Amino acid sequence: MIFDTHAHYDDKAFDADRETVLRSARESGVGLILDPGCDVESSRAALRLAEGHEFVYAAVGIHPEELDCWGEEALAELRELAEHPKCVAIGEIGLDYYWDDSRKQEQKLLFRWQLELALELDKPVIVHDREAHGDCMDIVRDYPALRGVFHCYSGSAEMAKELLKRGWYLGFDGPVTYKNARKTLEVLELCPLERILIETDSPYMSPVPMRGKRNDSRNLRFVADKLAACKGVTPEEIERVTMENGCRLFGIARPE
Ligand code: NI
Repeated sequence: MIFDTHAHYDDKAFDADRETVLRSARESGVGLILDPGCDVESSRAALRLAEGHEFVYAAVGIHPEELDCWGEEALAELRELAEHPKCVAIGEIGLDYYWDDSRKQEQKLLFRWQLELALELDKPVIVHDREAHGDCMDIVRDYPALRGVFHCYSGSAEMAKELLKRGWYLGFDGPVTYKNARKTLEVLELCPLERILIETDSPYMSPVPMRGKRNDSRNLRFVADKLAACKGVTPEEIERVTMENGCRLFGIARPE
């Protein structure tokens, strides 16, 4: 049984067949799914999905690309949603200088506010870091008690070593199956098995051979296969250990 620790089933890409996809993912051996929110609205939607499905959990947070939606009211609501029993993390939060680097200060402020919320509620965080490695590290260093995952890890090997030393997990997604994955595979090599999470980031980032199509948790096995080949273990071992890792980090009981 496999744990997809990052899949946006609240996304409108699944409006037409969400229940069918979830059911078939479940039937194909997906034991757990974590759906992280990107703003207040999608955090609420993720929690609704989690309420309706025993094997779905949610994280709540405001993504750095959703800067326009935050203010006092949004943060108050987020805090309230974070107390929901099926909210297991704060995410997805972080910095993204790829799409827009004109509001870095605001991104950092929002990131810090949510990291502090995570500490206050004693929850792990799911970090989105795109082209913002240095600033993400600077901020994370300010909160040594914080734990979480750098989702779809894209930083350097050096940065990975520091994160691992600080107790963080690294998330690997479809891009490990792409031709230009060399840097990520180097990181994978140095990352101990017990700190690896596997994710689809559905509906985005479909692995080879599904690249270009809408992604869903059934494709997670392609990521697991690639990781197994790189680490010299069986895909079953990757499934088992990443399930254990996800349950440990997010405080979820392992499914039978
Ligand atoms: Ni995501």
